[in-house]
Amino acid sequence: MASSGRVAVPLAALALLSAAAAVALPPFAPVSGPGGGARAGSQDGRRGEQHLLPPTHGHGQARPIDEKVTQGAIEEGLARSRAAIRRAARAAAPPPPPNETVRRGFRVAAGDYVPHGAIYRNARAFHRSYVEMERRFKIWTYREGEPPVAHVGPGADIYSIEGQFMYEMEDPRSQFAARRPDEAHAFLLPISVCNLVRYVYRLNATARLAPLRRLVADYVHVVAERYPYWNRSRGADHVIVSCHDWAPMVSRADQQLYGNAIRVLCNANTSEGFWPRKDATLPEVNLADGLLRRPTAGLPPENRTALAFFAGGMHGHEALLRHWLGRDPDMHVHEYLPAGEDYHARMASARFCLCPSGFEVASPRVVESVFSGCVPVIISEGYPPPFSDVLDWSKMSVTVPTARIPELKAILSRVSERRYRVLRARVLQAQRHFVLHRPARRFDMIHMVLHSIWLRRLNVRLPY
Ligand SMILES: *[C@@H]1O[C@H](CO)[C@@H](O)[C@H](O)[C@H]1NC(C)=O
Ligand SMILES: *[C@@H]1O[C@H](CO)[C@@H](O)[C@H](O)[C@H]1NC(C)=O
Ligand SMILES: *[C@@H]1O[C@H](CO)[C@@H](O)[C@H](O)[C@H]1NC(C)=O
Ligand SMILES: *[C@@H]1O[C@H](CO)[C@@H](O)[C@H](O)[C@H]1NC(C)=O
Ligand SMILES: *[C@@H]1O[C@H](CO)[C@@H](O)[C@H](O)[C@H]1NC(C)=O
Repeated sequence: MASSGRVAVPLAALALLSAAAAVALPPFAPVSGPGGGARAGSQDGRRGEQHLLPPTHGHGQARPIDEKVTQGAIEEGLARSRAAIRRAARAAAPPPPPNETVRRGFRVAAGDYVPHGAIYRNARAFHRSYVEMERRFKIWTYREGEPPVAHVGPGADIYSIEGQFMYEMEDPRSQFAARRPDEAHAFLLPISVCNLVRYVYRLNATARLAPLRRLVADYVHVVAERYPYWNRSRGADHVIVSCHDWAPMVSRADQQLYGNAIRVLCNANTSEGFWPRKDATLPEVNLADGLLRRPTAGLPPENRTALAFFAGGMHGHEALLRHWLGRDPDMHVHEYLPAGEDYHARMASARFCLCPSGFEVASPRVVESVFSGCVPVIISEGYPPPFSDVLDWSKMSVTVPTARIPELKAILSRVSERRYRVLRARVLQAQRHFVLHRPARRFDMIHMVLHSIWLRRLNVRLPY
């Protein structure tokens, strides 16, 4: 497909060095990505209609806080972080051993993880950027809006990351939660697209998404009226986080939200306006019962007898099932697992786990593979995998274009035993970045999502 080549360019631009380069916003012109000019939601028309969001939430803020926008103070701090990351990225020396306690002016507690090795595009730059984030980054979560469409989200099932992230940011213990909006580097719009779909959406063939978009547009309108922060950046330092398939469409409610804000999305389809330099991929995590689990190594390589494993329904997986369902004893491709079989145990005993896009680009199988020590085979078009600004997926997975599904067995069989063991060891090393903790911990999934936001905030220079 024509879209496959498009990922390479923005991803290369996201290598940490250039991410730290900072593009100054042109004055009075919206930054826009591909399709950024689209105004899909704006004609939904809010004029004359009452705001569906109650004006305030908690904290008794009946009127705007009289915020002074301090020119340059926040940006000066970010400039120091960019410079530090650039220096770290250029440093030629190999990364020091993981238990060194003091390096280049910042402290690493004994036992703390130090990024190293081939899974990282630039381990030193990432480490420095991560430490700079811990030192500086503050996100203000707007108080406006009421549950269930704001401040809460699903904590279980396929979209669980949306609620898990929201709960973490609403937790006053989070070190990244700003105490006051004027100390914030970024502003979270705590809207749950999943809950909008659940509580507001009514099947209506003529204007399905209009009520959802109207609520989102209203939210932006309210915070832009009440605070100086939206207008001063035209939304470029504002963040919306959603795992719902429709989040990209709902975010068209406001042109600046769509074209300028940092959209953190599971449905990260570069053919549908996802712009990797500005937007970030949210990993899709299937927490069937809402319980947070630990990853496992699964069986050692010599005991992984199946060459490849997949189980899943027809929804979007037709090409894979058509070619491989019941075709080959090495290719364990199922539509439904036989009764009594454990899905995760099957992943933990396969060499490669197939992670094709379904109806939408994201697949929960990417995280499931990593969790069971299975090397992911990413079969998608125009999908930057999670954290690919930091992680070099080519060093820990196999990527197969959709068009080459018929060659899957040949491609996977050609991976040598030696290469396979290297790939699998790296999958195990990367596991820490895909684990959810409450509260979040260093280098875990929530903090990696925050780091994705931090990098994109570093990418723009704003006048405050
Ligand atoms: C540092 O790492 C080395 C090699 O991994 C290990 O032998 C040593 O015990 C570690 N020292 C501390 C203080 O953890
Ligand atoms: C569907 O939406 C349109 C436009 O908002 C509205 O006029 C119409 O009444 C709705 N139909 C139903 C069945 O809700
Ligand atoms: C932000 O801009 C909008 C549209 O120009 C305007 O209606 C609103 O009052 C502005 N907000 C503030 C706080 O000045
Ligand atoms: C791996 O297979 C060997 C023999 O093939 C067996 O002895 C061993 O217990 C297996 N290991 C695991 C973890 O299943
Ligand atoms: C990505 O978006 C394009 C354009 O809308 C669409 O044709 C394609 O099917 C999408 N990819 C997936 C896996 O849904």
